[in-house]
Amino acid sequence: MGLKILGTGSSLPKLSVTNDMLSGLMDTNDEWISTRTGIKSRYICSDEKLLDLAADAAKKAIDMARIDKDEIDTIICTTVCSDYLTPSMACMINKELGISCRSLDINAACSGFIYGLELAKAYIDSGIAKKILLVSAENMTRLSDWSDRSTCVLFGDGAGATVLSEGDDLMAVSVTARGNEELLNISGIHGNSPFDKTEAGENFLHMNGKEVYKFAVSSICEELEKTVKEAGIEFKDVDYILLHQANMRIIGAAQKRLPVAKEKYLSNIDRCGNTSSASIPILLDEEARKGRFKKGDVLLMSAFGGGLTTGTCAIKWGI
Ligand code: ACO
Repeated sequence: MGLKILGTGSSLPKLSVTNDMLSGLMDTNDEWISTRTGIKSRYICSDEKLLDLAADAAKKAIDMARIDKDEIDTIICTTVCSDYLTPSMACMINKELGISCRSLDINAACSGFIYGLELAKAYIDSGIAKKILLVSAENMTRLSDWSDRSTCVLFGDGAGATVLSEGDDLMAVSVTARGNEELLNISGIHGNSPFDKTEAGENFLHMNGKEVYKFAVSSICEELEKTVKEAGIEFKDVDYILLHQANMRIIGAAQKRLPVAKEKYLSNIDRCGNTSSASIPILLDEEARKGRFKKGDVLLMSAFGGGLTTGTCAIKWGI
């Protein structure tokens, strides 16, 4: 068994914030941000809730899949920024779509989409589920520290969705984690228990950019090599590569190390910034709607993120 993608959808906030707009708010400039990250602008939630983006992406994916929404028996949402700690984003998407089914969130930071694909495959292989809605929705700009110019300029908001069913298109998938909270973390709610003697963290993203950079480049290359082998293919058989859109320099470093032509790497980081787990499914949907893929194309995807997690897969385009 295994799975196939029946449809994709994505949704971005209406406000696009350019580097020049940021330089009016803090001590930064377009030259610094563009040369170090490849980001020119990012979409940022203003009056949208994350659920608005998640539900919009989900509806578009269901439309493309040409299924009735009631056929969906499982909603998996990947996020680190749920509107509520409970109910989960998946439950809120379920409410918004007007359906009742198994609904759960998973948090694997920026690798969430690939973790979601692996979980969906396990559900389908075991016969538990038949049609799964996988939504990756992130509101990273709400968790960024806007007084820290080295991190807040990197992120954007958005949601990407896929509808998955039984099929043979997923050629290989693997996820892993090396537990580490020092390089990248966002503290949870501390509460006001009169008995709690632990120190409250700040509820903002903290990142050691240089170390995350090294981790990202080495893990992307190692994991892609393993995935290609596991899928029983060679790099020359790959049609497109979709890497987590964290930093154009990370993508460039991978391009130098892997034997794949530059034109095969798809990217939207210039316009979207880093949207955490939503970055790959947003890119996938944008390219699918441009008519980029033909049936049978082999796509490689690889993500890394807080945890530290990684996730990599090879999948055929089957629509
Ligand atoms: N504008 C202008 N100057 C800045 C800015 C800014 N926005 N941010 C930092 N600087 C300054 C610093 O203060 C420093 O100045 P100094 O030398 O006078 O002290 C200088 O620029 C260099 O700062 P560094 O932090 O050393 O910059 P670096 O070249 O390492 O680039 C970056 C930072 C872009 C974050 C890089 O480390 C990186 O790409 N890391 C990868 C991590 C990543 O992309 N993570 C994505 C999010 S995590 C995820 O997706 C899971």
